[in-house]
Amino acid sequence: MSTLVVVGAQWGDEGKGKVVDALASQADVVARFAGGNNAGHTLVFSGQKVVTHLVPSGCAYPGTRCVLGAGMVIDPEVFRQEITALQKSGMLLQDELRVSLDAHVIFPFHRWLDGGREDQVGGTRIGTTRRGIGPAYEAKAARRGIRVRDLLHPERLRARLIANAAIVNAELERLGAEERLEVDAEVARATGWVVWMRPLICDAGELIDASIRAGQRVLIEGAQGALLDLDHGTYPYVTSSTTLAGGACSGLGIGPTAIDRVWGITKAYTTRVGAGPFPTRLDDAHGELLRQAGDEFGATTGRPRDCGWLDLPALRYAARRSGLTGLCVTKLDILAKMPEIAICRSYADGVVPGRDELDLARPVLEGLPGWGDPALASQIAQARRLEDLPAPARAYLDIISEAIEVPIALVSVGPGRDQTVFIDEAF
Ligand code: IMP
Repeated sequence: MSTLVVVGAQWGDEGKGKVVDALASQADVVARFAGGNNAGHTLVFSGQKVVTHLVPSGCAYPGTRCVLGAGMVIDPEVFRQEITALQKSGMLLQDELRVSLDAHVIFPFHRWLDGGREDQVGGTRIGTTRRGIGPAYEAKAARRGIRVRDLLHPERLRARLIANAAIVNAELERLGAEERLEVDAEVARATGWVVWMRPLICDAGELIDASIRAGQRVLIEGAQGALLDLDHGTYPYVTSSTTLAGGACSGLGIGPTAIDRVWGITKAYTTRVGAGPFPTRLDDAHGELLRQAGDEFGATTGRPRDCGWLDLPALRYAARRSGLTGLCVTKLDILAKMPEIAICRSYADGVVPGRDELDLARPVLEGLPGWGDPALASQIAQARRLEDLPAPARAYLDIISEAIEVPIALVSVGPGRDQTVFIDEAF
């Protein structure tokens, strides 16, 4: 068993960074297959907090190769800042990082379009991260996107920029934006990027395939979560890429036969940022308590996240769409800080995710006994083996596992790397 895919099973922010970081010590390669700097992973080790947006969480281990796959969209300015910050804190060596020739590049004009559309009066406000993710993927689908490989050939790059300029500038004008795509300025900007990026650029599909063939342990990290998937999420309130495990194949350039297991990550409760349906959202004091206890503010945008109880129908849907073989449950210690807890096992009127729109879903909530004891949170935070977890916590994990028919593989009981209960083997 050498290839493990780890994906979010909710609306993102499930704690993938922490889990991948905890597993990366066993991996030779950590690769990301989709998304861009809309993601944000908060890693905590030796008391130091580091947020990464593009570089996979495996960066914190010397000797672990980090790969950014073809399915990603890369903002070179953010990439550069992140590399500098990681190198400064001693977490990343130049030779450990690679980026695919085929990843698409986010230029400033993608960000201007993203922000302009979000601010547009009368438009559909998605609540995007305004990082240019949607416009870059849109250009890719329209076959006028600019790939990392284009940066290496200034004349080809110029032609691609010219192909974008009229369309982009017409929209910027319509949106009332002041900025314009100026081809010469962008070619000059990209020339500066190539100086430091060139040694990192490679055929990432070939690299991953060779690693798998050599029997190396490859950890593949998703971004966002199943319900934000472009095809299977709460469309149109989704991100513009594939967040499901299936995207690992196209986003890296490997076949499904190369994947051995798929772990999904869920918080012990649910959160969401941005617009769109969220059946178990709590607009009351409980929601506020969860937000404060769990520090539920976006790692990328700082926006407060909406919070609610765990939604088992949505989680079951995510488990099926990604073919999960194991589930990782995070922030169980935070749930234990609540004076009482509830869980959603079904929606009223037989509403089912997938078949029915989630904005029709009214959750049937069930209170669970045994919670609300202030000692529980610290007992959970100190657990290192399944047997150490107090009875209500173990019963909770059983309810989740039975409902979605996926075994629990790992439980995270705090932000620290050591605050992890390993139940199944990753590799
Ligand atoms: P975009 O990905 O910036 O286009 O935003 C589209 C939707 O996905 C918005 O609702 C964002 O809040 C959400 N989103 C994007 N990335 C993340 C993430 O890493 N965590 C949680 N939500 C995200």
